Amino acid sequence: MERLKDIIKKIKDSEQSGKILRNEYVVDNINKALDVVEQIGKAKNKKFVIDDDNRWVYTQLIKWVQGDRSFECIDIETRQRKPGNLSAGIYLAGPTGTGKSWALEIMSLLSQIDDVRLFCAGKMTKLEFPSVRTNQVCNEFAQGQSIEKYNQMPIVCFQDLCSLSEPEESMYMGNRLKIMQSIIESRGDRQDLITLFSSNVKFDSPHFRDRYTDRVVSRMFEMCNYLELKGGDRRRI
Ligand SMILES: Nc1ncnc2c1ncn2[C@@H]1O[C@H](COP(=O)(O)OP(=O)(O)O)[C@@H](O)[C@H]1O
Ligand SMILES: [Mg+2]
Repeated sequence: MERLKDIIKKIKDSEQSGKILRNEYVVDNINKALDVVEQIGKAKNKKFVIDDDNRWVYTQLIKWVQGDRSFECIDIETRQRKPGNLSAGIYLAGPTGTGKSWALEIMSLLSQIDDVRLFCAGKMTKLEFPSVRTNQVCNEFAQGQSIEKYNQMPIVCFQDLCSLSEPEESMYMGNRLKIMQSIIESRGDRQDLITLFSSNVKFDSPHFRDRYTDRVVSRMFEMCNYLELKGGDRRRI
């Protein structure tokens, strides 16, 4: 973590010296930002790397965090790169172990280092966001806790959407609810919230559609920029 502290200090110093202009900062510092990301990743696990399987995705995620208008995502239908929407969230798909959860958690940390703020849910707020697993959200409901907070959080990341560990329906005191479907519909009705997801499943797949309905699929198109991590299971390396 010492090197990370140095890097944070350098970023803060250069900001104070007034050298940085937002646009130039973004263009000039993509390599520096990738380096910062690598430092954060290595602090979590020495084996962390940015390589050919994840470099493009990390580059786009950094641009999303920093608000760089050259941010790109993948058109889920044509599989081509296209300009991203900085006002929307992220849907990060890919096989198990490709590093999706880490990538999103590291982006929240990066936003803290860069002190990224945005206007969201009616006020200026930090981009920094909590991550919660979808099965945990469902368990909270089943244990009688309110899940209304997940409808209201300005920015939140749901990990493992549509996974086997996420119950299709959850029940509390006789009330059955499709938890994630209800949260996505509620958040999708609002233009002022940002939602991130990680998932093993593409949101235009028949499995996703069957599980959450067409309405949720069309919400996903509006709410999220689609990105995909490729490669093997990094847990096994
Ligand atoms: N960029 C990376 N380089 C090396 N190892 C990584 C990287 N990202 C994640 N890992 C390792 O792989 C494991 C799985 O990552 P995770 O983000 O949980 O995958 P996913 O959410 O895609 O299933 C992590 O516990 C971590 O040890
Ligand atoms: Mg994960």
